[in-house]
Amino acid sequence: MRPHILLTLPMDAPVLEQALDEAYHVHRLHLAPDPEALLASVAPRIRAVVTTGAGGVGNAILDTLPALELIAIRGVGTDRVDLEHARQLGLRVTTTPDVLSEDVADLAMGLLLATSRAICVGDAFVRAGKWPGHSLPLAHRVAGKRAGILGLGSIGRAIARRASGFGMSVAYTGRRPHEGVPYRYAANLVDLASTSDVLFVAASGNPGTRGIVNAQVLDALGPEGILVNIARGSLVDEPALVAALASGRILGAGLDVFQNEPHMPEALLAMANVVLQPHQGSATRECRLDMGALVLENLAAHFAGQPLPTPVV
Ligand code: 8YV
Repeated sequence: MRPHILLTLPMDAPVLEQALDEAYHVHRLHLAPDPEALLASVAPRIRAVVTTGAGGVGNAILDTLPALELIAIRGVGTDRVDLEHARQLGLRVTTTPDVLSEDVADLAMGLLLATSRAICVGDAFVRAGKWPGHSLPLAHRVAGKRAGILGLGSIGRAIARRASGFGMSVAYTGRRPHEGVPYRYAANLVDLASTSDVLFVAASGNPGTRGIVNAQVLDALGPEGILVNIARGSLVDEPALVAALASGRILGAGLDVFQNEPHMPEALLAMANVVLQPHQGSATRECRLDMGALVLENLAAHFAGQPLPTPVV
């Protein structure tokens, strides 16, 4: 008897979709012309939900699934799932940690380079045929600058390794210092920002980190400082960021995530010192294959009654 599962996302690779279809009755919410009708017809049979980190699954849906046992998140963020509610319902929750760290860190460095070296500005300049006869303002050096990392988890460490490779000094802050890492621990975020040229936001989004990159932190980063956010928009006070960018109180920002995705403050769109991405941190073919494989492993372990490879709850 193949268990019934509810899928809220495309798995991004035919091989993963096939593997799911071979092992499960897959109900694809994202393809349903009428998602509510689909839910109403399959709800009593659904034993697992597969969803994204960025999208999660709401309590309203969880409450309609009486046979639900597992929420398998394809992603590392748990901020879109009410973990306390999941616990109360006796659900297990898994994520796909580590397999996405290198790709997310690549994008973080890409955003830093694109912002500091004004790569998108240069690209638009060339495409507009302005090269002959015009020149661009000078950009800013990356090599040798001071990287500050908020959140030295798996992604933060992958950023730290890359920053070191660029000859940058690395410091970090977070809930606590980590043993055995060669990076300076800053006691708080303002201290970190005031001693950094680039502030990478790599901590998880949760009520405790909401808005912690605020006006005071941005002022500490200062007029030569760049903010790179590949974590969650919720960590940054977005109006404060827009104000700091508009007034030159920070130099620039590379942003993959926003408070109210896919929407963002209109003002950002007109700023040449900002590089914007539509939440692409883990969006490489290789990464999505690895993430999907880990989702499949978690599902298989769960339905075989074996320990979950990467549980959260
Ligand atoms: C994904 C993410 O883009 O891991 C996360 O939490 O936000 C990203 O890796 C998203 O989960 C889509 O699968």
